[in-house]
Amino acid sequence: MGRRLVAAKSVSLRGSATVPGDKSISHRVAILGAMASGTTEAHNFLAADDCLRTLYAIHALGATVVRNGNDVYITSEGYEAWRQLEGVLDLGNSGTGLRLLMGAVAGRPFETTLDGDESLRRRPMDRVAHPLRAMGSQVTGQGERLTPPVTIRGGHLRGIVYEQPVASAQVKSAVILAGLQAEGITTVIQPQLSRNHTELIMAAFGGRVATDGLKVTVEGGQQLHAATLTIPGDFSSAAFLIAAAVLVPGSEVTIHGVGLNPTRTGLLSILAAMGARIAVGPLLRVGEEPWGTLTVFSSELRGVLVEGDLIPAAIDELPLVAVLATQAEGETVVRQARELRIKESDRIATMAENLRAMGADIKETEDGWVIRGPTPLRGTQVRAEMDHRVAMALAVAGLVADGETVVEGAEAVGTSFPSFAETLASLGANVRML
Ligand code: S3P
Repeated sequence: MGRRLVAAKSVSLRGSATVPGDKSISHRVAILGAMASGTTEAHNFLAADDCLRTLYAIHALGATVVRNGNDVYITSEGYEAWRQLEGVLDLGNSGTGLRLLMGAVAGRPFETTLDGDESLRRRPMDRVAHPLRAMGSQVTGQGERLTPPVTIRGGHLRGIVYEQPVASAQVKSAVILAGLQAEGITTVIQPQLSRNHTELIMAAFGGRVATDGLKVTVEGGQQLHAATLTIPGDFSSAAFLIAAAVLVPGSEVTIHGVGLNPTRTGLLSILAAMGARIAVGPLLRVGEEPWGTLTVFSSELRGVLVEGDLIPAAIDELPLVAVLATQAEGETVVRQARELRIKESDRIATMAENLRAMGADIKETEDGWVIRGPTPLRGTQVRAEMDHRVAMALAVAGLVADGETVVEGAEAVGTSFPSFAETLASLGANVRML
């Protein structure tokens, strides 16, 4: 507990790296593996706090889980064999784990209580409760926004047509997982495309989910079968290496085996518009997910407008966009990103406060930021606020700041990218974890 990331000005990052398995896909493979019958084999599973919590959860629900490093074997007799938990499931910091599990247990004829840490206890679960209640399950939580602990009393579900008020892959996935167990057909209509890993991965488990533009349809009463999968490197973790290489002068960094699903790679479009040079290597397809190699060169950047469909496609990378914008010529505006306020921290506020403390010209708006650059950054003490992506984004900022940047609360990186500091340091960055 109480760890710090210490970063300082760096010269030319060089070399190649890989990043750990994708967090979103690891959660989905764990839950679908437990919903399926047989033994699911997952390679390159993300063995970090969030996904380990989900493994623990499926074990508590009745699946047998064996983990050997990043290889995970999940044996189950299918979701119908799941049993009522004794006590409460603690999902730690993981919104994805908690929300997806809400959907998965909604069809089970027993009561499940899901809880989390101080950060997760501030995050609203009403967005998942609304469709699950409409399908026939009972969901209770704390206060108006139904923050955790939440209790789901599952049972007989009916298919619904659900029009999502905001793009959210977590909510979409929860409804799909419930829809698999419902009577009739469930349809989710998205306002904008959010990450589609649940839809893609379902095929490997023998499940049928149809996608037609923004409409996703799943038939109820499906039985799933075990799958063998290899999970691509997490683009959202690679993003920190990408941003570091773009910002630190004289850099050339290659990242291998990165998931390049277009619903995730909005940052590449934003960086292209900012003038960054990034080469995308040959695309492979492993299962349904595209993978590839990225080579990133340090680049002069210009300010951009980030809004619309780019927001869901870059949602977890927007803290990094704020960092990049401090070094770009002119004004960067990020708007329509109010969702950032309900992530692991209020990312609009935490990034604005911390970057301002480092000398950035950043104005917080209701749904984003206005950032003027380039401004020299200075190292100082900043705070991660229980948010892994804030911790890592600030450490990246520290690589171009004068003096030392000390990120307090850096243990949060264990959520998604425990080897962050080592990986960045192996490329020549001046960063260490204390
Ligand atoms: C995720 C969806 C996104 C994202 C989160 C992971 C997922 O959240 O920010 O880190 O795996 O489905 P929302 O569904 O709230 O947009």
